[in-house]
Formats: sequence, structure tokens, C-alpha cells
Amino acid sequence: MNLSYQLRLLIVLISIGVLAGGGLLLKRVLTPESFGVYGPYRADAIAEAALVPIRHGNNTSCFKCHSYETKVHKNGRHQTISCEFCHGTYADHIANEKKIGTLPVKKGKEITTLCLRCHNTEIKARSEEVIKTVAMPNHLTDQNVKLTHDCNQCHHVHAPLKYIIRAKQITGLMEARL
Ligand code: HEC
Ligand code: HEC
Ligand code: HEC
Ligand code: HEC
Repeated sequence: MNLSYQLRLLIVLISIGVLAGGGLLLKRVLTPESFGVYGPYRADAIAEAALVPIRHGNNTSCFKCHSYETKVHKNGRHQTISCEFCHGTYADHIANEKKIGTLPVKKGKEITTLCLRCHNTEIKARSEEVIKTVAMPNHLTDQNVKLTHDCNQCHHVHAPLKYIIRAKQITGLMEARL
């Protein structure tokens, strides 16, 4: 086939036109309606995000029903720590001011695992000035106790230094020569 130069040019131009027109149409169809209202994103996304139910409370949300734990927690070195970090989510526990579910309460070795998530010397990302860390099992051997001891046998979970003098006396006196 031997098309003239003008005809080939025409075919190319028409193709470009069809492609560009099709592209613009496609963009129109595929762009969500609220795109670009505030910026290069979907404005409706904000309203949708606001509708997601809130799952977490804050410590204040636990205070009114747990006055004993609150008192201990507020006076101890863990006062800045979120109750929910150790116990789980408010929404699994309370709805309309009523208890609807049980929150996990760690026991025994699970408590040690929980404590070491923040206090393990192996975590290099935080400096000692921000959070004091211990190396295991050295921390236990330094206290002259068996390696089977869990953190809460010496540290109150809600105020870790609350009974520490007593713990020191007991471990120092009773188990020093184990
Ligand atoms: C560092 C982790 C940690 C934080 C923070 C924490 N708790 Fe606890 N909490 C525990 C552990 C572990 C136990 C179980 C203690 C035990 O068995 O010796 C417990 C026990 C409890 C219990 C008793 C559960 C039972 O056995 O019936 C309540 C209630 C409670 N915590 C509420 C709170 C509230 C409220 C806050 C915040 C003011 C809070 N806790 C903060 C770790 C934590
Ligand atoms: C509307 C009151 C109310 C609020 C708010 C509340 N709790 Fe409770 N919680 C209870 C009751 C009632 C129990 C069962 C009796 C008890 O152990 O004191 C309970 C029990 C618990 C227990 C023991 C395990 C269980 O579920 O039975 C933990 C741990 C606990 N709550 C933690 C929390 C934390 C953390 C918060 C805040 C995020 C919180 N609670 C907020 C009423 C409340
Ligand atoms: C969410 C992180 C977190 C968890 C989990 C946690 N702690 Fe802490 N702990 C802290 C922070 C933050 C402080 C206050 C800064 C500091 O003193 O290192 C603290 C303070 C302490 C202190 C006082 C250190 C000092 O001499 O000032 C001890 C002891 C301690 N925690 C023991 C424990 C034990 C035992 C557990 C487990 C029941 C535990 N922590 C769980 C974050 C945590
Ligand atoms: C046998 C008792 C005992 C046990 C069990 C124990 N500790 Fe301690 N811990 C102590 C004593 C006592 C101190 C205070 C040491 C001091 O003041 O010289 C201490 C201090 C700390 C400190 C502060 C360290 C610092 O640099 O000031 C942290 C953090 C800590 N313990 C975390 C833990 C964790 C986490 C566990 C569990 C893995 C644990 N402890 C188990 C007795 C114990």
C-alpha cells in the first residue's frame, strides 16, 4: 500500500486525537467526585475516616470505674503508661458506660514478656534516660534470686517501685546465699 504523505499524517493526527480524548474521558469517569476539593485527594475520605468508630479510650476513660488501680498507677513510675497498652482496647470492654467484655489480664511469665517489651536492654532504639532497661537474666542474678522469678514478684505492675525497698530487703536477706 502506498498512502500519500498527507493521508498518513491525517491518520496519525486522528489517532492522537482519539487517544487524548479517550484518556480525558477515562480520567473523568475514574476520578472520584470529591477529588481536588481541598487538595490532590478525595475530600470525602475525611468524612469517611471520621465515621470509623473510636476503639481506644485514654487513661481517664478507665479512672472512674477502677479507682483503686488508678490511685496506685497515678502515684507510680508508670503514670505515663497507657492502661490499654497492657490490657487491650476500651471498645472490647465498655459500651454505653457498661461492661460488655473482659479485657486480658496477663499472668506469670506473660507479665515478664510484657515488661520486657519496654524494658529489655536488647531494645537499642531508646536511650536509658528515656526508659530504664535491664538485661536478663543478669537482673535476677544481681538480686540473688532464681531465674524462675517473674517481674511482678518484686515490682508492682501499676507502680513498679511501690514495694521495692521491701523487695530488696527480702531478696537481700532471705535469698542472698541461694
Ligand atoms: C505495665 C502494664 C500495665 C499497665 C500500664 C496497667 N496495668 Fe493493670 N494490670 C497489669 C497486670 C500485669 C495485671 C495483673 C497483676 C497480677 O496478676 O499481679 C494487672 C491487673 C489489673 C486489674 C485487676 C485485674 C483482675 O485480676 O481482676 C485491673 C482492674 C487493672 N489492672 C486496671 C488497670 C488500669 C485501670 C490501668 C491504668 C490506670 C492499668 N491497669 C494499667 C498490667 C498493667
Ligand atoms: C463503666 C465502668 C468501667 C470502665 C470505664 C472501665 N472498666 Fe474495667 N471493669 C469494669 C468492671 C465492672 C469490671 C469487672 C469487675 C472488676 O474486676 O472490678 C472490670 C474489669 C476490668 C479488668 C479485669 C478483667 C475483666 O475484664 O474483667 C481489667 C483489666 C479492666 N477492667 C481494665 C480496664 C481498663 C484498662 C479500662 C480503660 C480502658 C477500663 N477497665 C474501663 C468496669 C469498667
Ligand atoms: C509501655 C512500656 C512499658 C511497659 C510495658 C512497662 N514499663 Fe516500666 N516503665 C516504663 C516507663 C516509660 C517508665 C518511666 C521511665 C523510667 O523510669 O524508666 C517505667 C518505669 C519503670 C520502673 C522504674 C525505673 C526507675 O528506676 O525509675 C520499673 C522498675 C519498671 N518500669 C518496671 C516494669 C515492670 C516490672 C513492668 C511489667 C509489669 C513494666 N515496667 C512494664 C515503660 C513501661
Ligand atoms: C527479685 C526481685 C526483682 C525481680 C524479680 C525483678 N526486679 Fe527489677 N529491680 C529490683 C530491684 C531491687 C531494683 C532496684 C535496684 C536498685 O535500686 O539498685 C530493680 C530495678 C529495676 C529497674 C530499674 C533499673 C535501673 O537502671 O534503675 C527496671 C527497669 C526493672 N527493675 C525492671 C524489671 C523487669 C522488667 C523485671 C522482669 C523481667 C524485673 N525488674 C524483675 C528487683 C527485681
